[in-house]
Amino acid sequence: MQRVALGWDEFWAELFRIKHRNSIPGIEQYDRMVVEFCIDTLGLEPGREVLDIACGAGVHSIEFAKAGLKATAFDLAESLVRAGMQRAQEEGVEVDFYTGDMREMDYHERFHAAVILSHSFGFFDHEGNMAVLRGAYNALRAGGRLLLDLMNPYNLPRFHKTWTKVAGGYLLNEAHVLDAASGILRGRPATFIDVENARIVVMNEDAMMNNNIRMYTAHEIRELLADTGFNKVELYGQNKLPRTPYSADSQRMVVVAEK
Ligand SMILES: C[S@@+](CC[C@H](N)C(=O)[O-])C[C@H]1O[C@@H](n2cnc3c(N)ncnc32)[C@H](O)[C@@H]1O
Repeated sequence: MQRVALGWDEFWAELFRIKHRNSIPGIEQYDRMVVEFCIDTLGLEPGREVLDIACGAGVHSIEFAKAGLKATAFDLAESLVRAGMQRAQEEGVEVDFYTGDMREMDYHERFHAAVILSHSFGFFDHEGNMAVLRGAYNALRAGGRLLLDLMNPYNLPRFHKTWTKVAGGYLLNEAHVLDAASGILRGRPATFIDVENARIVVMNEDAMMNNNIRMYTAHEIRELLADTGFNKVELYGQNKLPRTPYSADSQRMVVVAEK
C-alpha cells in the first residue's frame, strides 16, 4: 500500500473533526447539551452576539444560531469552515464563518460572549496562549463573558490506543501522554488506513501542530485571565446543566470570566 504524509487542513481536520467525530455515539445530543449549558451559564438572550473561537466544523455555532443567537465562528482550517458553511445552509440557519488564527483576532467590543469549546486552549507557548485571551477580551463588550470548556488537569480521561472504523477506512489513535514536568499533554501521530484509496495516511509536521496542549490548573488560568484584564472568574465541574462546583475529580474544568 502507498504511504502518504498529509497536513491538518488538507486531510486530518476533516477526518478528526467530522468523520471521526460523527462516529461517536450520541455526539449530536452532547453538542446540544453543551450549547444549552453555555446559553444558560452566560445568560444569553436571543439576538445576543456570540463568538465561537476555534469552531471546528461549527457544530456549536449552528446550535447557537438555532437558539436565536447571532453566531460568529472561525477556525484555522478552511476545510472545516467550508463544511460548517454548508451544514448551516442545509440546516437553514445563519452563522458568520471565517477562516483565521485565534492568536490574531481583531474584534473590538462587539460580542456579549465568547466560547472556546472542546479544550481548544493551550495549543501555543505562553505568549501565544496569552494572545488568544487578549483577542477574546478585546472582542467582548464591557460585562461580556468568556467561557472555556477544558479537560480537568487533575482528572484527565484515561487515554487508550484505539482503532475506529470511520467513513472511508480505519483510524488508529495513539494514546495522549501527560508530561507532568512541563504540564503538557502530548498527542501522538495517528494513522489512517484509507481503504477507499488503497493508501496509508500518516500525519506530517503541520498536522501535528496542535498536538501538544498546555494543561493549565485553575490557579494558573485565573492568573492568566487576571493578567489579561478579566475581573471575575467562576469555575464549574461539568459542561452540562445543572452547574456543579469544580473539584479535583470533576469531569471538566469550565472557566467563565467576565470583562
Ligand atoms: C479540539 S478542536 C475543537 C473544535 C470545536 N470547537 C469543537 O468543539 O468541535 C480544535 C480546533 O482548533 C482549531 N485550531 C487549531 N489551531 C488554531 C488556530 N491557531 N486558530 C484557530 N483555530 C485553530 C483546529 O482546526 C480545530 O478545529
